[in-house]
Amino acid sequence: EIILKRVKEMANDITKDYAGRRPLFIAILNGSFMFASDLFKHLNIEAELCFIKLASYKGLKSSGNVVTSIGLEDDLFGKEVIIVEDIVDTGKTLHNFLPKLLHQQPRSMRIATLLHKSAATEFPLTLDYVGFDIPNKFVVGYGLDYDGLGRNFKEIYQLV
Ligand code: IMP
Repeated sequence: EIILKRVKEMANDITKDYAGRRPLFIAILNGSFMFASDLFKHLNIEAELCFIKLASYKGLKSSGNVVTSIGLEDDLFGKEVIIVEDIVDTGKTLHNFLPKLLHQQPRSMRIATLLHKSAATEFPLTLDYVGFDIPNKFVVGYGLDYDGLGRNFKEIYQLV
């Protein structure tokens, strides 16, 4: 209930901020699929959505090295882009990836993340929409996994 209430609030904020515009949401797989789904269904504006995949994380520790992105077919030139992330930890993944998107000259680019481990964030990033600031602990559920498992939990649990 708490998660969904917050996600609806975020959708309302985005609806207000993007009234009359038509943002393209780029949701980063796999972890963001539940958040993206709940966020997207509560928007009250015209919006597009696509999913992309970045490879960077194994086990409990983020390597942060974005190896590749798969699935970005849209041309971002002139678009109002909103990146949808499950969690920003060190920030390295997005910090490394954003220049690739900016290279395509979108009209604007913002980041919406459900969770932010602000105490762990080492790479400068402006996070425009943040669901919850959480302690620097590993969490699973609501799309987030530990070695592939736990994504299906409706709740979010601290693992260790
Ligand atoms: P960053 O590059 O350190 O910001 O890591 C970002 C990515 O690491 C996220 O998109 C997640 O896939 C993964 N990640 C970071 N912390 C957690 C966690 O507590 N649980 C599950 N995945 C996590």
